[in-house]
Amino acid sequence: MKALVTGGGGFLGGAIVRQLLARGDEVQSFSRGEHPELARLGVRQFRGELGDPAALLRAAQGCDILFHVAAKAGIWGPYEEFFRANVTGTKNVIAACQAHGIQRLIHTSSPSVVFDGRDLEGGDESLPYPDRYEAHYPQTKALAERLVLAANSPTLATVALRPHLIWGPGDNHLVPRIVAKARARRLRRIGNRPCLVDTVYVENAALAHLLAGDRLFPGSPVAGKSYFITNGEPTPLWEMVNRILAAAGLSPVTRSISPRMAYAIGVVCERLWSALRLSGEPPMTRFVARELATAHWFDGSAARRDLGYEPTVSLEEGLVRLSEWLQNEQVD
Ligand SMILES: NC(=O)c1ccc[n+]([C@@H]2O[C@H](COP(=O)([O-])OP(=O)(O)OC[C@H]3O[C@@H](n4cnc5c(N)ncnc54)[C@H](OP(=O)(O)O)[C@@H]3O)[C@@H](O)[C@H]2O)c1
Repeated sequence: MKALVTGGGGFLGGAIVRQLLARGDEVQSFSRGEHPELARLGVRQFRGELGDPAALLRAAQGCDILFHVAAKAGIWGPYEEFFRANVTGTKNVIAACQAHGIQRLIHTSSPSVVFDGRDLEGGDESLPYPDRYEAHYPQTKALAERLVLAANSPTLATVALRPHLIWGPGDNHLVPRIVAKARARRLRRIGNRPCLVDTVYVENAALAHLLAGDRLFPGSPVAGKSYFITNGEPTPLWEMVNRILAAAGLSPVTRSISPRMAYAIGVVCERLWSALRLSGEPPMTRFVARELATAHWFDGSAARRDLGYEPTVSLEEGLVRLSEWLQNEQVD
């Protein structure tokens, strides 16, 4: 099988690439930059922007399956940039599949597409999309997911996976942020409720993508559907943060602020960053304040039943591997 992985040089994309290669598939990657680790693995790299349809057409030529993993993630930035990468980019991916007769498209979505600011406890894939979003990332990821599911047809089978809070060795988002904030003594618990959250170890999230690809064909039970992907071990959010800090050799977070205060700080920061056109990400936003003060855990039975997905690396084992990686890498 010849697979194209968009974002194959990224955190999750890299894990998918390695698992595909390990089972003997031919893999190529599409992203803006050159990724030396992919070159070392012998992966052919196509460089381009998701917003450029011609670049995607070139990369997808001759492929049997497409894993669309690349996206603009983050909590801040102009809406147009999120829209171009996440929505226009996904349209271009779908068009490339259709142009080349690629029959299988696995799209990496996000559980944040159904986050309405309130607790999500044990919900399944019937959760509706909210009417409004407090950040561009979940809004544009939701638009992208809807495009992918609507594109499912007798000639192109599509599926959307929603991995929740991916972590593990090689993490370039969640773990480094927590570690940097803790080192700068700027980490605060938000509220004191023991909100349960699902997370997923990176290799498990990648495995779910391969399983989805294997079970996906036009008319198959998984075609046209979305699935939450987690480790199935919901943990109180601040306990999880503290376990990550412990893996980095850091003390647990003790100081806290109220959810109301965090949200108010988010409102003020967003206004300041917009009005003064400040660079970088604000230290708090409305979306982050709500995410860190609410429960998010999901019913994983659909992924188990339809994809045959069972996590192979437990939270415990993942944390050991994370700790080893953190001790060998300079993460700041
Ligand atoms: N990390 C999480 O906790 C999490 C949770 C839920 C869902 N997800 C989803 O999982 C996917 C992968 O996330 P990740 O954490 O692995 O992110 P990542 O490490 O930042 O990887 C994203 C990759 O996409 C490429 N990319 C970004 N913008 C691009 C553009 N405009 N054109 C072409 N390539 C572009 C990047 O490579 P270049 O910089 O070289 O272009 C990078 O290799 C995303 O769809 C994200 O929404 C992540």
